[in-house]
Formats: sequence, C-alpha cells, structure tokens
Amino acid sequence: MTITQSPDLVASMLSRRSNKLVQAPGPNPEQLNQILQTAVCAPDHAAMRAWRFVLIEQAEISAFTDLAIDATRRWGREITPQKEQNTRNWMSKVPLLIGLAYKISHDNSKVPEIEQTLSMGAAVMNIQNAAHALGFASYWSTGLGSYTEEVPEALGFDGLDYRFVGFLAVGTPINQLAAGQRPDAMSLTHVWKAGA
Ligand SMILES: Cc1cc2nc3c(=O)[nH]c(=O)nc-3n(C[C@H](O)[C@H](O)[C@H](O)COP(=O)(O)O)c2cc1C
Repeated sequence: MTITQSPDLVASMLSRRSNKLVQAPGPNPEQLNQILQTAVCAPDHAAMRAWRFVLIEQAEISAFTDLAIDATRRWGREITPQKEQNTRNWMSKVPLLIGLAYKISHDNSKVPEIEQTLSMGAAVMNIQNAAHALGFASYWSTGLGSYTEEVPEALGFDGLDYRFVGFLAVGTPINQLAAGQRPDAMSLTHVWKAGA
C-alpha cells in the first residue's frame, strides 16, 4: 500500500465550515459518487456496512418539504408561519439533500450501538470533508422531521431497523463564510503519565 502525504487534505479539513445556504449546482453524478464513496471509508467495527443514504434531488425537494413540515406538525411540534417560511426559503434553493441513516444491529455484543452511531458520524464527516474539498458546502440538520417516525419511514427507513440521523444539504455556497472560530485543540487535550 502506498502511503501518500496530503497536506492539502489537512488544509482543506482545517478550512471546512458548515454552510446552510447552498444553491445549484450540486455535485454532478461522478462527484456525488466520489463523495459517497468517502463515507464508506469510515471506520467500521466488524465490517457491518450499516451506513445508508437516500438522495432527495432538487425536483423532489418541494414535495419533501411539504411532507417534513406536515409530519412535524402531526408529531406535535409547533412550526410557526415564520419558521415554515424560513424552511421553505432555505429548501427552495438546496440542490441536494442526503438523508442519513444506519441499520441497527440490535443487541450486538461485539459492536454496541454507540459504536454503530460513531461509525455513522464518521461517514457523515467524510462526506462533509469530501464535499468541501470538491468546492461544495454542506450542512447537517436534524430538523425536517428527522426525529418523527413518519419522515424516516417515508424515506425507506422504518424505526425498528434503522436509526435516522438527519440530512445533509449539499450544494454551492451562496455566500463564502469567514474562517470558523475553532478552539485550540491542545486546550482540550492532556498528556497522561504513569504514576503522575
Ligand atoms: C448530528 C448533528 C445534527 C445537527 N442538527 C442541526 C440542526 O438541526 N439545526 C442546526 O442549526 N444545526 C444543526 N447542527 C449543527 C450544524 O450542522 C453545524 O455543525 C454547526 O452549525 C457548526 O458548524 P461547523 O460544522 O462549521 O462547526 C447539527 C450538527 C450535528 C453534528
């Protein structure tokens, strides 16, 4: 195996910011394929391959937005007219939503569910980094009815077998954001020494 050094990759990861406001063009099929392929390079204890993705392309986003808003209200969550309008405005420009789920392995003594969740999170992070490296922005949201039963089920993920973990809005950033305010990683890190 060739070990490749990629300082550009690190620089790209350091400059990534979530950006909610995206527009067309989204990734083309080849770019999307590459982006999703990075997801399945995530660490995966026992090779469970539990990651699942559903693509909601631009032509379907309006119908999906109706579904998500109605389902959220039926679920008992208030959505004010202003919130509804904001959501519709946001969604009207988004060229691609990727729904994110993983197949649950119940009562797995080798891979507890926390590890399954972490692997899904790592897959989503790879997608966000790959999208950014290709010049796109993305935004992970657990709005849009993610926690209702109805929305995941309408997308093909019944709650008995799948854990639905939200959506990525992916596209071309409408505005370039300034660099993110990030903590100093060393302030969150300590060195352990035996006997200290
Ligand atoms: C699992 C998950 C769910 C999220 N859901 C929402 C959400 O519903 N609404 C929201 O405004 N931000 C949400 N966020 C936060 C944004 O996606 C983003 O991470 C945050 O704005 C920080 O941006 P950054 O990635 O540039 O640090 C979520 C983040 C994660 C990890």
